[in-house]
Amino acid sequence: MNRLSIIILIIFIISGCDKYEPDCNISEVCSETFTPTNISLTYPNNFPSPNTPEWNPLTEEGVNLGRHLFYDPILSSDNTISCASCHKQEYAFGDNTQFSFGVNQALGTRHSPTIMNVAFQEQFDWDGKSNSLEEQASRPIFNEIELHNNNWSEVINRLAMSDIYPDLFCAAFGTEEIDSLSIVMAISQFERTLISSNSRFDQWLRGEVAFTSEELDGFNIFSSERGDCFHCHPTGLFTDNIFHNNGLDSDFTDMGRYDITGNPLDKGLFKSPTLRNIEFSAPYMHDGRFNTLDEVIEHYNFGGYDSPTVDPLMKYIYTNPYNIPGLTGLLLTEEEKANLKAFLLTLSDPLFIENPNLSNPFND
Ligand code: HEC
Ligand code: HEC
Repeated sequence: MNRLSIIILIIFIISGCDKYEPDCNISEVCSETFTPTNISLTYPNNFPSPNTPEWNPLTEEGVNLGRHLFYDPILSSDNTISCASCHKQEYAFGDNTQFSFGVNQALGTRHSPTIMNVAFQEQFDWDGKSNSLEEQASRPIFNEIELHNNNWSEVINRLAMSDIYPDLFCAAFGTEEIDSLSIVMAISQFERTLISSNSRFDQWLRGEVAFTSEELDGFNIFSSERGDCFHCHPTGLFTDNIFHNNGLDSDFTDMGRYDITGNPLDKGLFKSPTLRNIEFSAPYMHDGRFNTLDEVIEHYNFGGYDSPTVDPLMKYIYTNPYNIPGLTGLLLTEEEKANLKAFLLTLSDPLFIENPNLSNPFND
Protein backbone atom coordinates (compact mmCIF):
# COMPACT_ATOMS: atom_id res chain seq x y z
CA MET A 1 0.00 0.00 0.00
CA ASN A 2 1.33 3.41 -0.83
CA ARG A 3 1.45 6.19 1.67
CA LEU A 4 -1.65 7.94 0.35
CA SER A 5 -3.86 4.89 0.69
CA ILE A 6 -2.60 4.28 4.22
CA ILE A 7 -3.54 7.84 5.13
CA ILE A 8 -6.95 7.41 3.52
CA LEU A 9 -7.46 4.16 5.41
CA ILE A 10 -6.52 5.82 8.69
CA ILE A 11 -8.90 8.72 8.05
CA PHE A 12 -11.60 6.19 7.21
CA ILE A 13 -11.05 4.27 10.44
CA ILE A 14 -10.89 7.37 12.61
CA SER A 15 -13.90 9.12 11.15
CA GLY A 16 -16.06 6.06 10.48
CA CYS A 17 -17.86 6.29 7.20
CA ASP A 18 -20.26 8.92 6.02
CA LYS A 19 -23.81 7.84 6.86
CA TYR A 20 -25.10 8.99 3.51
CA GLU A 21 -22.56 7.06 1.44
CA PRO A 22 -24.61 4.22 -0.12
CA ASP A 23 -21.76 1.67 -0.20
CA CYS A 24 -20.78 2.23 3.33
CA ASN A 25 -22.56 0.04 5.88
CA ILE A 26 -21.95 1.66 9.26
CA SER A 27 -23.04 -1.19 11.46
CA GLU A 28 -20.87 -3.61 9.55
CA VAL A 29 -17.76 -1.47 9.99
CA CYS A 30 -18.68 -1.03 13.60
CA SER A 31 -19.55 -4.61 14.42
CA GLU A 32 -16.36 -5.87 12.78
CA THR A 33 -14.32 -4.04 15.37
CA PHE A 34 -16.71 -4.81 18.22
CA THR A 35 -14.75 -6.62 20.93
CA PRO A 36 -16.03 -5.44 24.30
CA THR A 37 -14.11 -6.43 27.43
CA ASN A 38 -16.32 -7.86 30.16
CA ILE A 39 -15.67 -6.72 33.69
CA SER A 40 -16.98 -8.01 36.98
CA LEU A 41 -17.55 -6.01 40.12
CA THR A 42 -15.40 -6.56 43.18
CA TYR A 43 -17.22 -6.13 46.46
CA PRO A 44 -16.99 -7.38 50.04
CA ASN A 45 -18.93 -10.45 51.23
CA ASN A 46 -21.16 -8.38 53.53
CA PHE A 47 -22.78 -6.84 50.41
CA PRO A 48 -25.70 -8.57 48.67
CA SER A 49 -25.37 -9.76 45.05
CA PRO A 50 -25.33 -7.06 42.37
CA ASN A 51 -28.58 -6.19 40.56
CA THR A 52 -26.90 -6.30 37.11
CA PRO A 53 -29.48 -7.61 34.61
CA GLU A 54 -28.33 -10.39 32.28
CA TRP A 55 -29.08 -8.20 29.27
CA ASN A 56 -26.79 -5.39 30.48
CA PRO A 57 -23.48 -6.96 31.51
CA LEU A 58 -20.69 -4.56 32.43
CA THR A 59 -18.00 -3.96 29.85
CA GLU A 60 -15.07 -1.55 29.95
CA GLU A 61 -16.43 0.18 26.85
CA GLY A 62 -19.98 0.46 28.24
CA VAL A 63 -18.73 1.90 31.53
CA ASN A 64 -16.51 4.35 29.66
CA LEU A 65 -19.46 5.53 27.55
CA GLY A 66 -21.67 5.78 30.65
CA ARG A 67 -19.03 7.81 32.45
CA HIS A 68 -18.91 10.29 29.54
CA LEU A 69 -22.70 10.57 29.45
CA PHE A 70 -22.88 11.06 33.22
CA TYR A 71 -20.49 14.01 33.12
CA ASP A 72 -21.69 15.58 29.86
CA PRO A 73 -24.17 18.51 29.81
CA ILE A 74 -25.07 17.32 26.29
CA LEU A 75 -27.84 15.32 27.99
CA SER A 76 -29.64 18.51 29.04
CA SER A 77 -31.96 20.45 26.73
CA ASP A 78 -29.75 23.58 26.78
CA ASN A 79 -26.35 21.90 27.20
CA THR A 80 -25.80 23.33 30.69
CA ILE A 81 -26.50 20.57 33.22
CA SER A 82 -25.15 17.05 33.54
CA CYS A 83 -25.96 14.26 35.99
CA ALA A 84 -22.74 15.28 37.75
CA SER A 85 -24.02 18.84 38.30
CA CYS A 86 -26.17 17.39 41.10
CA HIS A 87 -24.25 14.18 41.79
CA LYS A 88 -20.68 15.31 42.47
CA GLN A 89 -17.92 12.84 43.25
CA GLU A 90 -16.49 15.03 46.05
CA TYR A 91 -19.83 14.75 47.89
CA ALA A 92 -20.10 10.97 47.33
CA PHE A 93 -22.07 11.66 44.15
CA GLY A 94 -24.56 13.81 46.05
CA ASP A 95 -24.63 17.60 46.40
CA ASN A 96 -23.65 20.07 49.13
CA THR A 97 -26.66 22.35 48.69
CA GLN A 98 -30.13 21.70 50.08
CA PHE A 99 -31.62 21.60 46.55
CA SER A 100 -29.68 21.54 43.27
CA PHE A 101 -30.22 23.66 40.18
CA GLY A 102 -31.49 22.01 37.01
CA VAL A 103 -31.95 23.55 33.55
CA ASN A 104 -33.08 27.24 33.69
CA GLN A 105 -32.01 27.47 37.34
CA ALA A 106 -35.04 25.38 38.32
CA LEU A 107 -34.98 24.16 41.93
CA GLY A 108 -36.56 20.94 43.18
CA THR A 109 -37.92 20.12 46.61
CA ARG A 110 -35.73 17.11 47.33
CA HIS A 111 -32.06 16.96 48.19
CA SER A 112 -29.83 15.20 45.62
CA PRO A 113 -29.04 11.79 47.14
CA THR A 114 -25.64 10.13 46.94
CA ILE A 115 -25.09 7.48 44.24
CA MET A 116 -23.03 4.84 45.92
CA ASN A 117 -23.16 1.03 46.02
CA VAL A 118 -26.33 1.30 43.94
CA ALA A 119 -25.39 -1.97 42.20
CA PHE A 120 -26.55 -3.68 45.40
CA GLN A 121 -29.90 -1.94 45.83
CA GLU A 122 -33.29 -2.62 44.31
CA GLN A 123 -35.24 0.63 44.60
CA PHE A 124 -34.19 4.14 43.75
CA ASP A 125 -35.11 7.74 44.56
CA TRP A 126 -36.16 8.85 48.04
CA ASP A 127 -39.62 7.37 47.48
CA GLY A 128 -38.42 4.30 45.54
CA LYS A 129 -40.31 5.27 42.39
CA SER A 130 -37.65 3.60 40.19
CA ASN A 131 -37.21 -0.15 40.30
CA SER A 132 -33.93 -0.41 38.41
CA LEU A 133 -31.01 1.84 37.57
CA GLU A 134 -31.91 1.58 33.89
CA GLU A 135 -35.43 2.84 34.66
CA GLN A 136 -34.10 5.53 37.00
CA ALA A 137 -31.63 6.93 34.44
CA SER A 138 -34.34 8.07 32.03
CA ARG A 139 -36.25 9.99 34.74
CA PRO A 140 -33.84 12.99 35.03
CA ILE A 141 -33.59 13.21 31.22
CA PHE A 142 -37.20 14.44 31.02
CA ASN A 143 -37.70 15.93 34.48
CA GLU A 144 -38.42 19.68 34.14
CA ILE A 145 -36.28 20.58 37.11
CA GLU A 146 -33.40 18.36 36.00
CA LEU A 147 -32.31 17.85 32.35
CA HIS A 148 -35.64 19.00 30.89
CA ASN A 149 -35.82 17.33 27.45
CA ASN A 150 -39.14 16.82 25.67
CA ASN A 151 -38.42 13.53 23.98
CA TRP A 152 -35.70 11.00 23.28
CA SER A 153 -35.11 12.11 19.69
CA GLU A 154 -33.71 15.49 20.68
CA VAL A 155 -31.26 13.79 23.06
CA ILE A 156 -30.30 11.16 20.48
CA ASN A 157 -29.84 13.82 17.78
CA ARG A 158 -27.42 15.81 19.90
CA LEU A 159 -25.40 12.67 20.66
CA ALA A 160 -25.42 11.52 17.03
CA MET A 161 -24.12 14.92 15.88
CA SER A 162 -21.26 14.94 18.39
CA ASP A 163 -17.65 14.13 17.53
CA ILE A 164 -17.19 11.46 20.15
CA TYR A 165 -20.42 9.60 20.81
CA PRO A 166 -20.88 7.57 17.61
CA ASP A 167 -17.47 5.96 18.26
CA LEU A 168 -18.14 5.46 21.96
CA PHE A 169 -21.50 3.81 21.24
CA CYS A 170 -19.87 1.70 18.56
CA ALA A 171 -17.22 0.46 21.00
CA ALA A 172 -19.80 -0.22 23.72
CA PHE A 173 -22.66 -1.77 21.76
CA GLY A 174 -21.32 -2.62 18.32
CA THR A 175 -23.44 -0.06 16.52
CA GLU A 176 -23.27 3.65 15.90
CA GLU A 177 -27.04 3.77 15.97
CA ILE A 178 -27.84 5.51 19.23
CA ASP A 179 -31.07 4.65 20.99
CA SER A 180 -32.65 5.37 24.35
CA LEU A 181 -32.03 1.89 25.67
CA SER A 182 -28.29 1.98 25.05
CA ILE A 183 -28.08 5.42 26.70
CA VAL A 184 -29.64 4.23 29.96
CA MET A 185 -27.76 0.92 29.79
CA ALA A 186 -24.40 2.70 29.60
CA ILE A 187 -25.23 5.17 32.39
CA SER A 188 -26.33 2.27 34.62
CA GLN A 189 -23.14 0.36 33.88
CA PHE A 190 -21.10 3.33 35.05
CA GLU A 191 -23.27 3.77 38.16
CA ARG A 192 -22.71 0.12 39.11
CA THR A 193 -18.98 0.81 39.33
CA LEU A 194 -19.52 3.47 42.03
CA ILE A 195 -18.53 1.12 44.83
CA SER A 196 -17.31 2.31 48.20
CA SER A 197 -16.06 -0.46 50.48
CA ASN A 198 -12.69 0.67 51.78
CA SER A 199 -13.55 2.92 54.69
CA ARG A 200 -11.77 2.77 58.04
CA PHE A 201 -14.75 0.70 59.20
CA ASP A 202 -14.14 -1.86 56.41
CA GLN A 203 -10.43 -1.91 57.24
CA TRP A 204 -11.32 -2.50 60.89
CA LEU A 205 -13.67 -5.35 59.91
CA ARG A 206 -10.84 -6.88 57.89
CA GLY A 207 -8.54 -6.59 60.92
CA GLU A 208 -6.23 -4.10 59.22
CA VAL A 209 -6.63 -1.21 61.65
CA ALA A 210 -7.73 -0.81 65.28
CA PHE A 211 -10.60 1.46 66.36
CA THR A 212 -9.99 4.09 69.04
CA SER A 213 -11.99 3.58 72.24
CA GLU A 214 -14.28 6.44 71.12
CA GLU A 215 -14.97 4.81 67.73
CA LEU A 216 -15.56 1.46 69.40
CA ASP A 217 -18.07 2.95 71.85
CA GLY A 218 -19.74 4.75 68.91
CA PHE A 219 -20.02 1.44 67.06
CA ASN A 220 -21.58 -0.17 70.14
CA ILE A 221 -24.11 2.66 70.45
CA PHE A 222 -24.91 2.36 66.72
CA SER A 223 -25.41 -1.39 66.82
CA SER A 224 -27.21 -1.86 70.12
CA GLU A 225 -30.43 -0.64 71.72
CA ARG A 226 -28.43 2.36 73.09
CA GLY A 227 -28.66 4.05 69.68
CA ASP A 228 -30.67 1.57 67.68
CA CYS A 229 -29.41 2.75 64.30
CA PHE A 230 -28.51 -0.65 62.87
CA HIS A 231 -32.06 -1.83 62.18
CA CYS A 232 -32.57 0.68 59.38
CA HIS A 233 -28.89 1.28 58.56
CA PRO A 234 -27.45 -2.26 58.86
CA THR A 235 -23.68 -2.54 58.60
CA GLY A 236 -22.61 -3.56 55.10
CA LEU A 237 -24.49 -1.17 52.86
CA PHE A 238 -25.62 0.92 55.88
CA THR A 239 -29.11 1.05 54.36
CA ASP A 240 -31.85 -1.58 54.49
CA ASN A 241 -33.06 -0.07 51.19
CA ILE A 242 -36.63 0.11 52.46
CA PHE A 243 -38.93 2.91 53.52
CA HIS A 244 -39.46 4.33 56.99
CA ASN A 245 -40.83 7.36 58.74
CA ASN A 246 -37.97 8.25 61.09
CA GLY A 247 -39.98 10.81 63.05
CA LEU A 248 -38.83 14.02 61.33
CA ASP A 249 -42.32 15.60 61.38
CA SER A 250 -45.80 15.02 62.71
CA ASP A 251 -47.31 16.62 59.56
CA PHE A 252 -45.86 16.00 56.12
CA THR A 253 -45.26 18.51 53.35
CA ASP A 254 -43.72 15.76 51.18
CA MET A 255 -45.73 12.53 51.33
CA GLY A 256 -42.78 10.41 50.15
CA ARG A 257 -43.60 6.76 49.45
CA TYR A 258 -47.36 7.44 49.65
CA ASP A 259 -47.24 9.33 46.33
CA ILE A 260 -46.08 6.11 44.66
CA THR A 261 -48.24 3.50 46.39
CA GLY A 262 -51.31 5.50 47.45
CA ASN A 263 -51.26 3.49 50.68
CA PRO A 264 -52.05 5.74 53.69
CA LEU A 265 -49.57 3.72 55.77
CA ASP A 266 -46.81 5.05 53.48
CA LYS A 267 -47.37 8.74 54.28
CA GLY A 268 -44.06 10.40 55.14
CA LEU A 269 -41.94 7.31 54.45
CA PHE A 270 -38.59 7.67 52.68
CA LYS A 271 -35.83 5.25 51.71
CA SER A 272 -33.17 4.86 54.41
CA PRO A 273 -30.09 6.46 52.88
CA THR A 274 -26.72 4.77 53.15
CA LEU A 275 -24.50 6.25 55.85
CA ARG A 276 -21.29 5.50 53.98
CA ASN A 277 -19.26 8.67 53.28
CA ILE A 278 -21.78 10.57 55.38
CA GLU A 279 -18.99 13.02 56.26
CA PHE A 280 -19.03 14.25 52.64
CA SER A 281 -22.74 14.31 51.84
CA ALA A 282 -24.24 17.09 54.03
CA PRO A 283 -26.90 18.47 54.16
CA TYR A 284 -29.00 15.52 55.30
CA MET A 285 -32.46 13.97 54.84
CA HIS A 286 -34.77 14.02 51.79
CA ASP A 287 -35.20 17.78 52.13
CA GLY A 288 -31.65 18.56 53.26
CA ARG A 289 -33.00 20.04 56.51
CA PHE A 290 -29.99 19.21 58.70
CA ASN A 291 -26.64 20.81 57.95
CA THR A 292 -24.45 18.78 60.28
CA LEU A 293 -24.15 15.29 61.73
CA ASP A 294 -24.55 16.86 65.17
CA GLU A 295 -28.04 18.02 64.18
CA VAL A 296 -28.89 14.53 62.93
CA ILE A 297 -27.66 12.95 66.17
CA GLU A 298 -29.73 15.50 68.18
CA HIS A 299 -32.81 14.45 66.17
CA TYR A 300 -32.42 10.79 67.10
CA ASN A 301 -31.34 11.63 70.65
CA PHE A 302 -34.51 13.65 71.17
CA GLY A 303 -36.51 10.64 69.90
CA GLY A 304 -38.41 12.18 66.97
CA TYR A 305 -42.00 13.32 66.37
CA ASP A 306 -44.99 11.04 66.70
CA SER A 307 -47.42 10.48 63.79
CA PRO A 308 -49.72 7.66 62.63
CA THR A 309 -47.05 6.27 60.30
CA VAL A 310 -43.95 6.67 62.44
CA ASP A 311 -41.82 3.53 62.37
CA PRO A 312 -42.23 1.17 65.35
CA LEU A 313 -38.43 1.13 65.55
CA MET A 314 -38.52 4.81 66.55
CA LYS A 315 -39.61 3.59 69.98
CA TYR A 316 -37.71 6.25 71.91
CA ILE A 317 -40.42 8.74 70.96
CA TYR A 318 -42.31 7.09 73.84
CA THR A 319 -39.59 5.58 76.04
CA ASN A 320 -35.80 5.37 76.53
CA PRO A 321 -33.18 2.59 76.37
CA TYR A 322 -33.05 2.30 80.19
CA ASN A 323 -36.82 2.26 80.80
CA ILE A 324 -36.58 5.19 83.20
CA PRO A 325 -40.20 6.26 83.73
CA GLY A 326 -41.21 9.62 82.28
CA LEU A 327 -38.13 10.10 80.07
CA THR A 328 -38.00 9.78 76.27
CA GLY A 329 -35.18 9.78 73.71
CA LEU A 330 -31.80 8.06 73.60
CA LEU A 331 -30.50 9.96 76.65
CA LEU A 332 -26.98 10.06 75.15
CA THR A 333 -24.38 12.00 77.15
CA GLU A 334 -22.26 14.59 75.33
CA GLU A 335 -19.44 12.06 75.28
CA GLU A 336 -21.66 9.35 73.78
CA LYS A 337 -22.87 11.74 71.08
CA ALA A 338 -19.25 12.53 70.20
CA ASN A 339 -18.44 8.80 70.11
CA LEU A 340 -21.40 8.03 67.83
CA LYS A 341 -20.19 10.77 65.51
CA ALA A 342 -16.62 9.40 65.65
CA PHE A 343 -18.00 6.05 64.50
CA LEU A 344 -20.01 7.63 61.65
CA LEU A 345 -16.80 9.29 60.48
CA THR A 346 -15.13 5.87 60.14
CA LEU A 347 -17.49 5.30 57.18
CA SER A 348 -15.51 7.79 55.08
CA ASP A 349 -13.67 6.35 52.09
CA PRO A 350 -11.44 9.14 50.72
CA LEU A 351 -10.11 6.90 47.93
CA PHE A 352 -13.67 6.60 46.58
CA ILE A 353 -14.10 10.38 46.61
CA GLU A 354 -10.80 10.76 44.77
CA ASN A 355 -10.88 7.65 42.56
CA PRO A 356 -9.64 8.91 39.16
CA ASN A 357 -11.57 6.16 37.32
CA LEU A 358 -14.85 7.69 38.55
CA SER A 359 -13.97 11.32 37.85
CA ASN A 360 -14.89 13.62 34.98
CA PRO A 361 -13.38 12.03 31.82
CA PHE A 362 -13.40 15.38 30.02
CA ASN A 363 -10.73 16.60 32.46
CA ASP A 364 -8.40 13.66 31.73
C1 HEC B 1 -30.98 18.96 39.06
C2 HEC B 1 -30.33 17.94 39.84
C3 HEC B 1 -30.25 16.54 39.30
C4 HEC B 1 -29.81 16.12 38.07
C5 HEC B 1 -29.36 16.95 36.90
C6 HEC B 1 -29.81 14.67 38.13
N1 HEC B 1 -30.25 14.24 39.35
FE1 HEC B 1 -30.30 12.33 40.00
N2 HEC B 1 -31.37 12.90 41.59
C7 HEC B 1 -31.66 14.20 41.93
C8 HEC B 1 -32.66 14.21 42.99
C9 HEC B 1 -33.25 15.45 43.65
C10 HEC B 1 -32.97 12.86 43.25
C11 HEC B 1 -34.02 12.34 44.22
C12 HEC B 1 -35.32 12.31 43.43
C13 HEC B 1 -36.52 11.86 44.20
O1 HEC B 1 -36.40 11.26 45.26
O2 HEC B 1 -37.64 12.09 43.73
C14 HEC B 1 -32.10 12.06 42.39
C15 HEC B 1 -32.02 10.66 42.42
C16 HEC B 1 -31.11 9.93 41.67
C17 HEC B 1 -30.79 8.53 41.86
C18 HEC B 1 -31.32 7.62 42.95
C19 HEC B 1 -30.29 7.36 44.01
C20 HEC B 1 -30.77 6.44 45.11
O3 HEC B 1 -29.95 5.97 45.90
O4 HEC B 1 -31.99 6.21 45.22
C21 HEC B 1 -29.91 8.18 40.88
C22 HEC B 1 -29.29 6.80 40.65
C23 HEC B 1 -29.70 9.35 40.06
N3 HEC B 1 -30.42 10.40 40.59
C24 HEC B 1 -28.95 9.38 38.90
C25 HEC B 1 -28.96 10.48 38.02
C26 HEC B 1 -28.50 10.41 36.65
C27 HEC B 1 -27.94 9.18 35.97
C28 HEC B 1 -28.66 11.66 36.12
C29 HEC B 1 -28.36 12.13 34.71
C30 HEC B 1 -28.98 11.39 33.63
C31 HEC B 1 -29.20 12.50 37.19
N4 HEC B 1 -29.40 11.73 38.31
C32 HEC B 1 -29.45 13.85 37.07
C33 HEC B 1 -31.09 15.32 41.37
C34 HEC B 1 -30.55 15.34 40.09
C1 HEC C 1 -36.73 3.55 61.68
C2 HEC C 1 -35.57 3.49 60.83
C3 HEC C 1 -34.37 4.34 61.20
C4 HEC C 1 -33.65 4.35 62.37
C5 HEC C 1 -33.90 3.53 63.62
C6 HEC C 1 -32.55 5.26 62.15
N1 HEC C 1 -32.63 5.80 60.91
FE1 HEC C 1 -31.39 7.20 60.13
N2 HEC C 1 -32.64 7.43 58.54
C7 HEC C 1 -33.77 6.68 58.31
C8 HEC C 1 -34.50 7.23 57.19
C9 HEC C 1 -35.79 6.70 56.60
C10 HEC C 1 -33.77 8.37 56.77
C11 HEC C 1 -34.18 9.35 55.67
C12 HEC C 1 -35.37 10.13 56.17
C13 HEC C 1 -35.81 11.27 55.29
O1 HEC C 1 -35.00 11.80 54.55
O2 HEC C 1 -36.99 11.63 55.37
C14 HEC C 1 -32.61 8.44 57.65
C15 HEC C 1 -31.61 9.39 57.53
C16 HEC C 1 -30.44 9.39 58.29
C17 HEC C 1 -29.30 10.25 58.05
C18 HEC C 1 -29.17 11.25 56.90
C19 HEC C 1 -28.55 10.57 55.68
C20 HEC C 1 -28.55 11.38 54.44
O3 HEC C 1 -27.82 11.03 53.50
O4 HEC C 1 -29.30 12.36 54.35
C21 HEC C 1 -28.37 9.95 58.99
C22 HEC C 1 -26.98 10.57 59.12
C23 HEC C 1 -28.93 8.93 59.83
N3 HEC C 1 -30.18 8.60 59.39
C24 HEC C 1 -28.28 8.36 60.92
C25 HEC C 1 -28.91 7.54 61.84
C26 HEC C 1 -28.38 7.23 63.14
C27 HEC C 1 -27.04 7.70 63.66
C28 HEC C 1 -29.32 6.46 63.77
C29 HEC C 1 -29.28 5.94 65.19
C30 HEC C 1 -29.14 6.95 66.22
C31 HEC C 1 -30.42 6.26 62.84
N4 HEC C 1 -30.14 6.95 61.69
C32 HEC C 1 -31.57 5.52 63.10
C33 HEC C 1 -34.17 5.58 59.02
C34 HEC C 1 -33.73 5.28 60.30
